[in-house]
Amino acid sequence: MELYLDSANIEEIRHAASLGIISGVTTNPSLLAKEDPKIDVRKRILEIHSLVGGHLSVEVISTDADGMLREADEILKWFPEATIKIPMIPEGLKAVSKLSDQDVETNVTLIFNPVQALAANNAGATYVSVFVGRLDDTGADGMEVIRDVREIWDIQGLSSLILAASIRHPIHILESAKAGADIATCPYKPLMQSLGHPLTDKGLSAFLEDYKKMQDEIAKLKS
Ligand code: G3P
Repeated sequence: MELYLDSANIEEIRHAASLGIISGVTTNPSLLAKEDPKIDVRKRILEIHSLVGGHLSVEVISTDADGMLREADEILKWFPEATIKIPMIPEGLKAVSKLSDQDVETNVTLIFNPVQALAANNAGATYVSVFVGRLDDTGADGMEVIRDVREIWDIQGLSSLILAASIRHPIHILESAKAGADIATCPYKPLMQSLGHPLTDKGLSAFLEDYKKMQDEIAKLKS
């Protein structure tokens, strides 16, 4: 399973990219607004693109297919390998279908059930983004949707990549991998939390202390 960073924050993206663990970045209007409500979106997206050579999803804000397609044209002028992120609404599917005909990559976002994912796949979506955490927030089991989508995809031989989004904690990352998601897009905090373990820190301290003891003994012998 690949990991993407779900962020529009340059420092977070720079750091995660420097670790070599992310192969893409997903953004949305809320993440951009969180950075700065007056943000220059084009400038920020191009900054992110220069930091992460891989996948970069940029979301449209129109709610009609023609508007979405106009925005997609504009984004593709910024950088031609952009993935156009489109909401899971009927007009969105219409836009996805047109973009798919032009071989433009699309990420259908705000998916909350497997039939929405199926429709997005059939329209030609490259990625289907299932919002796990927001489903959990309602008392549902968000990961169950990822499991169902994986099962349907395997039975039917479907091709859209399954993207687990709205990740809230490291267990979501683990469960996404076990459920067969192709990608999990994670905010910086749970991504960094998932890298650590108290026994790793304890073990490293012991190794360093023991090494220092050895060096001290060698220094004593030499003196
Ligand atoms: O990028 C879309 C998704 O990951 C949003 O997550 O935390 O706002 O539910 P969240």
